[in-house]
Amino acid sequence: MNKTHTQIWDIAIPFQDKRDDAGHAFITLEFAKQLVDLENGNQDVVLPAIILHDTGWSQLSRAEWQVVFSPDKTPEDEMTVRLRHQEEGVKIAQRILQQVNYPEDLITEIVEIIAEHDTRQGFISKNEGLVRDADKLWRFSKTGFDADVERFKFAPQNLHDTIHPQIASDGFFYCNTSRELAYLELERRQREFTRAALAHQSGTDYAHVS
Ligand SMILES: [Fe+2]
Ligand SMILES: [Fe+2]
Repeated sequence: MNKTHTQIWDIAIPFQDKRDDAGHAFITLEFAKQLVDLENGNQDVVLPAIILHDTGWSQLSRAEWQVVFSPDKTPEDEMTVRLRHQEEGVKIAQRILQQVNYPEDLITEIVEIIAEHDTRQGFISKNEGLVRDADKLWRFSKTGFDADVERFKFAPQNLHDTIHPQIASDGFFYCNTSRELAYLELERRQREFTRAALAHQSGTDYAHVS
């Protein structure tokens, strides 16, 4: 991260993690930094794009963004709010990038990525693919995985078994580096929840014996 990227991060903080997803901005940024290095992406595009990608949620009410997690939602309802968070995110990104005098050609590329980061079919460039991969890797991180277990009341093993096949599925990740990172993360999650279950079990047994 150079000085300008840090400045963008600082200005964007009040708009981050507005869907009860504490850590999303920070963790996706960490994945993006790794992917930029490993895949030789353009950090001047990928880093601001990942920092700003979900700032648009800050402009939606709780009732609006909760549609995404509602079991009764229709695909149309979900698409409406997803499109709105992208549109609002574009406005916030443009404002912040102009505020730090970011180069116009880079603003254009960053905004194009943010505009359809959740709804686009296929990838339009390496930079865009790396941003969307970093965003998806959140689900495999400890914080993201635990948040989904909590939110959807999933057993950890069920969540593991649901997202494991997504890794290799067509069009999910842009690059193999992201697939490898996702498998590594998911192995860690499995070790963690297996260990936690064993500890819980032995604690229960111990209590029972005593
Ligand atoms: Fe998003
Ligand atoms: Fe995101």
